[in-house]
Amino acid sequence: MTYEWMAVSAFGLEGAIAGELRRLGLSDVRSENGFVRFRGTLTDGYRCNLSLRFSDRVYLVLAEESCRSFEALFQLVSSIPWEKYTDGTEFFHLSAQCARSQLMSPRDCQSISKKAILERLRARTSRTVFPEKGAEFPVHISVHSDTVRVLLDTSGSSLSRRGYRTWNGEAPLRETLAAALVEFSPWRPGQPLYDPCCGTGTLLIEAALRQGHLAPGLRRSFAMESFAFFPAREAAVLKAEAEAACLPDRIAGIAGSDLDPDAIDLAHRHVLQAGLKGRIALEVRPLQEVTLEAENGVFLCNPPYGERLGDQEACRALYHDLGLLQKRHPTWSLCAISSDPGFEKSFGRRADKKRRLYNGRLECQFYTFMGRKLRA
Ligand SMILES: C[S@@+](CC[C@H](N)C(=O)[O-])C[C@H]1O[C@@H](n2cnc3c(N)ncnc32)[C@H](O)[C@@H]1O
Repeated sequence: MTYEWMAVSAFGLEGAIAGELRRLGLSDVRSENGFVRFRGTLTDGYRCNLSLRFSDRVYLVLAEESCRSFEALFQLVSSIPWEKYTDGTEFFHLSAQCARSQLMSPRDCQSISKKAILERLRARTSRTVFPEKGAEFPVHISVHSDTVRVLLDTSGSSLSRRGYRTWNGEAPLRETLAAALVEFSPWRPGQPLYDPCCGTGTLLIEAALRQGHLAPGLRRSFAMESFAFFPAREAAVLKAEAEAACLPDRIAGIAGSDLDPDAIDLAHRHVLQAGLKGRIALEVRPLQEVTLEAENGVFLCNPPYGERLGDQEACRALYHDLGLLQKRHPTWSLCAISSDPGFEKSFGRRADKKRRLYNGRLECQFYTFMGRKLRA
């Protein structure tokens, strides 16, 4: 049996997520603003949770309709066959988000929907008491332009939480955005990749996971693993398949440095927790002193942005030093994300490619400066 699904996307990553879904062999993939729809079985949904690198969450779409009143919302939620999805022992966790609609109170949408779910279960099952002490059953009500979507959150915590980062350093990148930057850069597995201000190592780890075919969700669990209608055995089989597909010995040529020794300590811990011990070279070194031997490769980094007053000057000096780093390695390409509109000027060159992205709420550009081609 196939269902309608939605993979949630940060601004600008919809196309990349659609590409991943197609590569997973899913059908009817359609990008919209902020999410990508597709059709698939429960097994497909689980595989997406396990494998999608750029999506934040995977929802199972239970109902979708135009609603302009709470009564209409109640009727819509009551029409869903909840008795097929839950045995009533779970903890029903309702969340809601409202935008540009008649129904603008998330709290009312939550409580009305919860009432509708419990009334339906009381009417259709023998259960009259709901202990609400079991595993979480997360239902999200999305109200946008008067369209209500009732969504079952199959991920639980955001998919950006791969499970390797438990200590956060200064302004770390979300793992999903880091994975997308790796994808948008000209780096292809097999080439050297170097992050000259690697902080806690997120970009390097995401690149290594990709190079070694390691599914990003291998080290965590998902809400759907405890859903009564999803067999636990299935999850174990899919995880074992993903484990068998890993090729860690392919990981080579990924390295980085940072001037902050504490950040490098954290990066070492994260590398270990990602199961990548000994696969990424890290050292304490200011980027002004980085000189690499390899003939070509890609520098990929998330330097500080200078958002706080007084920091901008120092950041612009650092961008200038990034420009010098590329001049020392003219056959290497360099990619960087920054919210500073003066980035190219400080770097000393116009970017060959620019892509607008958001790091959290900050509008940024992802700059690509291509290296000179090596003569054949
Ligand atoms: C925004 S953070 C990078 C975060 C990283 N992407 C992560 O996920 O943890 C910027 C990093 O640049 C480093 N940095 C600042 N100036 C530097 C320099 N001159 N040389 C090397 N690293 C520098 C900082 O120590 C900090 O770790």
